[in-house]
Amino acid sequence: MNTASNDAARLRAILDSAVSAIVTIDARGIVQGANPAVERMFGYTEEELIGRNVSMLMPEDLARAHDGFIARYLSTGDRRIIGIGREVTGQHKDGSSVPVHLSVGEFEDDGAHYFAGIMVDLRQQRLTERQLAREEALFQSIFDSVPDAFVVTDTDRNIQIANPAFVRIFGYDAQEIVGRSITMLFDDREEAVQHTSTALSLERQQQQLQAPIIASFRRRNGERFPGEAVWSEVRDGANVGVGYVALVRDVTRELKRETATRTAQRLEAIGQLTGGIAHDFNNLLTVIVGNLELLEPRISDGDQLDLLREVKEASEKGAQLTDHLLTFARRQRLESQKISLNGMVTAVADLLRRTIGANIVLDVIPATDLWMTRADPGLIETAIVNLVLNARDAMPVGGRIVVETRNAILDESGAELIPGLQVGQYVVLSVTDNGHGMPPEVAEHAFEPFFTTKGPGKGSGLGLASVYGFARQSGGQATLYSEVGKGTTIRIYLPRADADDGTHSAGRQEEVLPLGRGELVLAVEDDAKVRRLTIQRLSALGYEVEAVGDANAALGAIAGGLRPAVVFTDYMMPGGISGLELAQRLRAAHPEIAVLLTTGYAGGLIDAGDIDKLRIKVLMKPYRQAKLAQTVREAIDTNGRARAPMSGSES
Ligand SMILES: Nc1ncnc2c1ncn2[C@@H]1O[C@H](COP(=O)(O)OP(=O)(O)OP(=O)(O)O)[C@@H](O)[C@H]1O
Ligand SMILES: [Mg+2]
Repeated sequence: MNTASNDAARLRAILDSAVSAIVTIDARGIVQGANPAVERMFGYTEEELIGRNVSMLMPEDLARAHDGFIARYLSTGDRRIIGIGREVTGQHKDGSSVPVHLSVGEFEDDGAHYFAGIMVDLRQQRLTERQLAREEALFQSIFDSVPDAFVVTDTDRNIQIANPAFVRIFGYDAQEIVGRSITMLFDDREEAVQHTSTALSLERQQQQLQAPIIASFRRRNGERFPGEAVWSEVRDGANVGVGYVALVRDVTRELKRETATRTAQRLEAIGQLTGGIAHDFNNLLTVIVGNLELLEPRISDGDQLDLLREVKEASEKGAQLTDHLLTFARRQRLESQKISLNGMVTAVADLLRRTIGANIVLDVIPATDLWMTRADPGLIETAIVNLVLNARDAMPVGGRIVVETRNAILDESGAELIPGLQVGQYVVLSVTDNGHGMPPEVAEHAFEPFFTTKGPGKGSGLGLASVYGFARQSGGQATLYSEVGKGTTIRIYLPRADADDGTHSAGRQEEVLPLGRGELVLAVEDDAKVRRLTIQRLSALGYEVEAVGDANAALGAIAGGLRPAVVFTDYMMPGGISGLELAQRLRAAHPEIAVLLTTGYAGGLIDAGDIDKLRIKVLMKPYRQAKLAQTVREAIDTNGRARAPMSGSES
């Protein structure tokens, strides 16, 4: 073999195996040769190319100008590509464009000018670049728009970049934070070290614990907040750690909402339980108090009378406790009225000033233009007294109590934080003190009945419980805010009363003991002991009494011709017909018979509308003889009046 053919073979081997596409053309641009890489890049075989203008590998505009480029170079020597190289776009046989890096060399052979174009395929690179750009844009938009603080740190956990939410949440601007350690975001150095030490994070990774941590963070202005954070290490393609990303979410609102909901649920459950027990107690106390009252006139011995009075006092205390419990369980029969809180608050405060001691200042700040609200005035008074006394107890060495009223409009986000309250308008009564406050474990239970920190014999733990129940039953809510060493604020939200509904300010009835005139009373009561007692009490008041054990028996007796002046029925009864239903049936069929309902709780009676519509009376258990006398009389008389031909007026 001669050297020339040796050279040619070597060249052919190089060309065949080259990754770059190599095309040779003459001075007119006609292809003289092309290696296999050209086909991979452009889709044309060498045969298809040889003898044709190289411009077929270019998009149209470039193709048109190409002959001109060569001509200009040959005449001027002005190099645009030759020996320089640049990125250009070629065109594939199928019409798609092919980005390439093109460098051109030139040579002469036999006095003729040739060019060799060497092209590197940039399609893959472009694709990767485009993908990268897309990913970067995606990351950037997430980074900019996530509501959580997002920081990227180097391997030493010094912050490199922070997103807009970070700026918003932590209060630093994005520049000043760069280069500072991420540990400065924590409230507690020790916690910071725990959460950020490399050893620990490795351990976390091994356990694949990517679970978020909850820690206390600190804003630029020093304010602390609970944050939920997730950490992860960033590794490069070679699996070498290059830094960390951390995402921190401010969970103040969530935690607040969670705690409030949990408390509300617990109080709800306790309320159910309490209500049931209080109801049974009421029945027992009714029997005890009633029997004592019947016994009293029969005893003449002074010592025995003293004993009896002591029992009576104790029972009455018991009745008071049950009353609080019923309030907490929201089973009070509310005597709601449309009222303005300001006048009431001022009056109660004037009374309280005398009892709270000279070292405590009690201020009232009434809102101007306060809306009217609808609630039971007696229970509001009790609530204010309870709250002020609690405040006093929290300030053994004196301090200041502020009772304040204001209007409040709750929007979605406000209502969300106060479980049980709807969006709407409320009147808020708040009592604030600067006493010792409550630690969280006390605050969490303070509304529960019998929860007290005051020691045996001092507090019953029913004050806040009844405030809570009263607020809930009135369609509002009670909330508590307290800081140890600073003080406490309890707020009662009561619904705003419609501007145009009338005022029922029925004056308090006077205590008289009106007697019966032999009218017939039909008593319906399932508890035999209570039934016996009722017969005795009513007889003692001068009524004729028939008694039956349930509503069916009562309806049967009336169907059989019995015509009582009043049916005196318990609300809760076995046999499928409640006292309220019995009342409804009687009103429909025998409006001449008055109905008096008695109940230990107003669970199903809370809707005072029913009661008013039916024009029936309600007597709360346990009741005293005087109250019974007055209510039975009233029931008979008002029913009679309403039916008298002369009375045309609506009551
Ligand atoms: N203003 C307050 N400041 C600090 N702690 C309070 C305040 N109000 C209530 N507490 C705490 O909540 C507990 C429950 O209060 P609550 O009024 O229900 O019961 P009590 O005051 O202990 O007893 P009672 O009111 O039945 O006599 C109190 O024992 C006290 O620990
Ligand atoms: Mg109290």
